[in-house]
Amino acid sequence: MNSKKLDEDVLKEARFWEDFDIEAMKYGMPYWVDYQNAQYLNTPKRFLWSDPEIDKILYGDVKRRLLNSLPAESKVLDIGCGGGWLSLELARRGHHVVGIDIAEKRIEIAIDTAKKNNQEIDYRVCSLEDLGPDECFDVIVSFGTIHHFPNIEEELERVKALLKDDGLFIIVENCSNLFRNFADWFRKAILKRDNSSRSPFEDAASHKVVSEVRERFNVNKESFSLAFTKISAEVIDLLPFDLPRGVHYSLLRLIKIIDNGCTALKLFRGETVFMWCSK
Ligand SMILES: C[S@@+](CC[C@H](N)C(=O)[O-])C[C@H]1O[C@@H](n2cnc3c(N)ncnc32)[C@H](O)[C@@H]1O
Repeated sequence: MNSKKLDEDVLKEARFWEDFDIEAMKYGMPYWVDYQNAQYLNTPKRFLWSDPEIDKILYGDVKRRLLNSLPAESKVLDIGCGGGWLSLELARRGHHVVGIDIAEKRIEIAIDTAKKNNQEIDYRVCSLEDLGPDECFDVIVSFGTIHHFPNIEEELERVKALLKDDGLFIIVENCSNLFRNFADWFRKAILKRDNSSRSPFEDAASHKVVSEVRERFNVNKESFSLAFTKISAEVIDLLPFDLPRGVHYSLLRLIKIIDNGCTALKLFRGETVFMWCSK
């Protein structure tokens, strides 16, 4: 991809996420802005992202694990911090956080939320290449961001340069689009709906996140989860009728237990990877 085309696409990516937040914020506090004060967003059509309880079922365990795995009072870089839930949680736990994102309006929302919560977070509208060579971090985290990087190889080299020698790089990322492709096919071919809720760079690097990180870092811990719970949630969500919320949650919790068993037995690899790495 030439760099001009890449720049245009990066702008489109930023606009996509800005529109996403502006739409969601009409209905309340999304879990990806303030996890602790998240509300159910009563959108005209219920989407997975409207519901903090579904997010908890899908990602609650991995989010807790991530938050618990940082040394106290670390200087942390949150790459692609978006609406800022992770930066905010880290600041609440006493870490010194720099949150970066290319989407200006997302950063405005994050700044506003930090202020309302009396947290000091250094938010910046920028990408990794804009951080100076004199900056360095104890911990760099990426939650759902680096799988959006079309040039993940270069970006990981930048992460390495910004990480202290004894620093940690922690990621929670999509590492496969097998089930997502199935959901897209199902939506298009069976339900005749479009796939417009995907960002331009969605899954740009999912298939190579694991190998590219392994190539550049020492992986101290690695685990895979969510082989089919997320797709099940999407399929349930696509049904032409609404299940009562309680039934929906119970069904998903049950599927997640079976999913955890299957991924533990390595019957499936899981679509989400948690990696805890050093240089
Ligand atoms: C799926 S969202 C994840 C946001 C956040 N980490 C979270 O957990 O809610 C991906 C984010 O990465 C941002 N992003 C995409 N490319 C980026 C880049 N090159 N540099 C910085 N941020 C980027 C997008 O604007 C978006 O906010």
